[in-house]
Amino acid sequence: MKIIGRNKESEQTKKALKLGRNLLVEGPVGVGKTFLIQTLLKEIKKKFVRVDGDTRYTEQKLTGWFDPPIVLKKGYVKEAFVEGPLLTAMREGQVLFINELNRMPEAVQNILLPAMDERMIVLPKLGEVKAKAGFSVVATQNPKEFTATHALSEALLDRFEMIHLDYQDEKDEIEILKQEIGGNGKSETLARALRIVRATREHAAIKRGASVRAAIAVGRLLEGGLDFEEACLMALPSRIEVSSSGTDARELIHELIQNPTQFEKKKT
Ligand SMILES: Nc1ncnc2c1ncn2[C@@H]1O[C@H](COP(=O)(O)OP(=O)(O)OP(=O)(O)O)[C@@H](O)[C@H]1O
Ligand SMILES: [Mg+2]
Repeated sequence: MKIIGRNKESEQTKKALKLGRNLLVEGPVGVGKTFLIQTLLKEIKKKFVRVDGDTRYTEQKLTGWFDPPIVLKKGYVKEAFVEGPLLTAMREGQVLFINELNRMPEAVQNILLPAMDERMIVLPKLGEVKAKAGFSVVATQNPKEFTATHALSEALLDRFEMIHLDYQDEKDEIEILKQEIGGNGKSETLARALRIVRATREHAAIKRGASVRAAIAVGRLLEGGLDFEEACLMALPSRIEVSSSGTDARELIHELIQNPTQFEKKKT
């Protein structure tokens, strides 16, 4: 799988990664943040440890913890410490890749501060751990208006360079679909699905439209023999957020299937 389009962003990302900068890639759901970072880290042969942000993640999980049975036997010795991803990345001089950083609780985010600029961290009973050259933090996040996220603190933002990814143009999105679905999909039908997906982003009654991931999902269902309307109605309503609670997502998608060009557009 290769990265389609995104030439400028890929170049910027690669340069920042090679320089060992801390990098934050921000953008709406499904624009290819995770894919871009992972592909480029592999391309430049940079080793990384991946962590996926979630609201119940803990500081101990990120740094590591002392294993109680060993501590009971031997006390707080080094071998009793079970290393977490942050310490592994620091010790080995690798990239810590945190997917969806803003889903992490604030306390977990704060742990990163000294590691990112002073390149060291002090842990109770373990002492100071220094980062080897090559260590940096690369993260992705959805913009603030997306739900279930904890906005990053100013202190944390101040330690990152930022790259913003937005939806790609139609031509690139068609290519992405072709790469994912391959020769199994009829290109005219895929293009029709993509037009509906793209319309959801401009629709006045839709707060958050669907991404190319949604179009890929429609393509997969079509591949499996579902008809066009069924596939769209299964894959799209759950992937949009309507502007007012009285609106029915399924009904909106149904209207777009009938006519993907006539709808009230968002005011810009
Ligand atoms: N430029 C691109 N080239 C090739 N494939 C892409 C590109 N952009 C997105 N994709 C494909 O689209 C899908 C969604 O991408 P990805 O999971 O990276 O999105 P994301 O921004 O991380 O989404 P989320 O915010 O939900 O985590 C993946 O299947 C990915 O392979
Ligand atoms: Mg992602």
